[in-house]
Amino acid sequence: MIPVITIDGPTASGKGTVASRVAEALGFALLDSGALYRLTALSAIEAGVALDDAAAIAALARTLPVRFEGERILLGGRSVQDAIRQEAIGNAASKIAALPAVRTALVELQHGFRRPPGLVADGRDMGTVIFPDATLKVFLTASVQARADRRYKQLIDKGFPANMLALLQDLKERDARDTERAVAPLKPAEGAYLLDTSELTIEQSVAQVLDWWHHRAGTLGK
Ligand code: CDP
Repeated sequence: MIPVITIDGPTASGKGTVASRVAEALGFALLDSGALYRLTALSAIEAGVALDDAAAIAALARTLPVRFEGERILLGGRSVQDAIRQEAIGNAASKIAALPAVRTALVELQHGFRRPPGLVADGRDMGTVIFPDATLKVFLTASVQARADRRYKQLIDKGFPANMLALLQDLKERDARDTERAVAPLKPAEGAYLLDTSELTIEQSVAQVLDWWHHRAGTLGK
């Protein structure tokens, strides 16, 4: 069986960075499942589809013309890895992610990322819904303030405008939507290792996950 490490957690908890460094350290493939929701949201907005039109958005999700090439994400041949990081797209992604038909439409695409020698999957429901048989499940958290600080820095670094008060408000709304939705709500999977990264550097967080992984892999005789 191809091993999977799932890293779930709330917005701006540092999942993305930790997941990509863990994948790199182990030579594993990486699934940024949030990018799929963001790509779907971008496609919907560009096609002028209303964000509550579940059937139309699910159809877009099922046929996303997406290609991942290292850091680049191509949508119909166009580089969109920066465009999908805008707050407006993140907010739209969080809205369409609450639609059950959209989540179902993205399942197969996500399973396709499981390739030898292994996969690190980052998202909200990787350990609970998409890869329930994962070898190691991690749930990353951080305080709201730590997450707002990180998101602020991320946006400024990418040259996007950012306002701290608006970001804090956004984070709280997104947390509420992610944890309260009926389908695949954000919660730690059974058996998940909890990691609060508020006071940890990225290196410390990555080292902890790798430590758990080597321990799990050792236990399983790999
Ligand atoms: O960067 P941030 O953590 O805010 O977002 P993301 O991981 O790129 O995901 C964008 C949105 O997609 C999130 O706000 C979630 O609502 C949604 N999402 C989801 O529902 N399930 C996933 N597995 C991944 C993301």
